[in-house]
Amino acid sequence: AKVQYYDFVLKETNFTRLCSTKSMLTVNDSFPGPTIRVNKGDTVYVNVHNKGKYGVTIHWHGVKQPRNPWSDGPENVTQCPIPPNTSFTQEIIFSDEEGTLWWHAHSDWSRATVHGAIVILPAPWTTYPFPKPYGEQTLVLGEWFKGDVMAIIDEALATGGDPNTSDAFTINGQPGDLYDCSNGSTYRLLVNYGKTYLLRIINAVMNEEQFFGIANHKLTVVGMDGAYTKPIVTNYIMITPGQTMDVLVTANQSPSLYYIVSTPFADTTAPFDNTTTTAILQYQGKYTAPSSIPFPTLPSYNDKAAADNYTKLLRSLANKSHPVKVPVNITQRIFMTVSVNQLYCPNASCSGPDGNRLAASLNNISFQTPTIDVLQAYYGHLSKVFSNDFPKQPPYFFNFTGDVGNNTLYPSLGTKVLTVNYNDAVEIVYQGTNVGAAENHPMHLHGYSFYVVGLGSGNFNNITDPKSYNLVDPPLVNTIGVPKNGWATIRFIANNPGVWFMHCHLERHASWGMDTVLVVKNGSTRETSIRPPPKYMPPCSKT
Ligand code: C2O
Ligand code: CU
Repeated sequence: AKVQYYDFVLKETNFTRLCSTKSMLTVNDSFPGPTIRVNKGDTVYVNVHNKGKYGVTIHWHGVKQPRNPWSDGPENVTQCPIPPNTSFTQEIIFSDEEGTLWWHAHSDWSRATVHGAIVILPAPWTTYPFPKPYGEQTLVLGEWFKGDVMAIIDEALATGGDPNTSDAFTINGQPGDLYDCSNGSTYRLLVNYGKTYLLRIINAVMNEEQFFGIANHKLTVVGMDGAYTKPIVTNYIMITPGQTMDVLVTANQSPSLYYIVSTPFADTTAPFDNTTTTAILQYQGKYTAPSSIPFPTLPSYNDKAAADNYTKLLRSLANKSHPVKVPVNITQRIFMTVSVNQLYCPNASCSGPDGNRLAASLNNISFQTPTIDVLQAYYGHLSKVFSNDFPKQPPYFFNFTGDVGNNTLYPSLGTKVLTVNYNDAVEIVYQGTNVGAAENHPMHLHGYSFYVVGLGSGNFNNITDPKSYNLVDPPLVNTIGVPKNGWATIRFIANNPGVWFMHCHLERHASWGMDTVLVVKNGSTRETSIRPPPKYMPPCSKT
């Protein structure tokens, strides 16, 4: 395995989209930022230079970082922000990931403009579990806000209301033909007739799930979240924020231009950006351009069945060279409700429902971000930074997906972490609720991939639902959309000691407290314990 070095220079750069120019934080002046390209098993050192105006952190989404939470990145969970005019070198250890992942800022809302792809090719002398594609391309689905994203979340948190929605979605940084002032710069994917291409699709959007498709072309899904899947042939995919999907497409239609489209899936009463971004699949060679470019038929924005049906198709590859190891004898069972809630506003003049502030929670605990990172406090035995009492069940059971009235509408606040032993076989049932606004929640766990053994609608039934679990070829992912008013069960072996953030990847929910921290204790040997910290970690202002 090789070692590679990258420099990430974060600084404010002017970008113009939708006829307006703003200064925004980017890495190496690009949006999306640079791609990290490795082979399975490599190690990468990224020297992050912060030349911006405020502290930031960078996270390597889906990279497990064995025993090395020090470089994982979530703000005030594994490190304090890198102060302006300083730098911090992160060590990214690739282990068993193969396919596509991504990196993004993990402080406030800076990930809106600070993100990029991670391409993990097969190890040398090994190959894809499908015929080698002729070409490949990353397609980063993003979001464009005319305003300053940091100001948008600051204002939402100050008033207690919903943050402004975005003004456009983007593919590789470009809004595309359907938006004002955008059609000269629409992203074009050039293909040769008869060839097959691997598209590495990343949902880097802040707050919306997406349906994605290409006019007249079938998609063959072959991977997800840095692991291979059984091939699925489909007209569309549904990809939730945080997820990545590897898709093969063969240029087998009459040479022409075809729209590539990404449009929100949002079955919710919360405000969302209901606009559509496009790129163009362009055959090379001579032909007469069509008078109108064909557009794919995608499910409508609130088509929950279309979204759920797609997600239920995903399976691990599960063959000899890609074995599945689903834990069977569970030693830690956790039942976790996922809710959008409210908090009282001191003078009832906040702009959330009934003059309250919007909040969000897991098991009715709304996460309070500490001022010293949890990792430092855990490793250095500092008290009063967090408590060890994250509940393994909600405060009480009710009809979670029915008419929930005021049940657990008001969460309690705390920096509570969930601690498990090294090598525990963990099962978490995420239960979506109808408290506040019901919505899908893309739950993401750092430091791990997990098997999604079950997905269903309504209240989880602990007698009948486990009978439907797939223990044979469940998908191995790092982010799962917990269905609106439904549930999802995940399993994994806690074999990566460390301090690992767990949260909803809808940025507004994460900001409102839909987060917790999983602490996995050390094993009995040095090789099964957290590595010692690097010589330098960015300082916390309060230490
Ligand atoms: Cu994609 Cu906690 O992150
Ligand atoms: Cu959520």
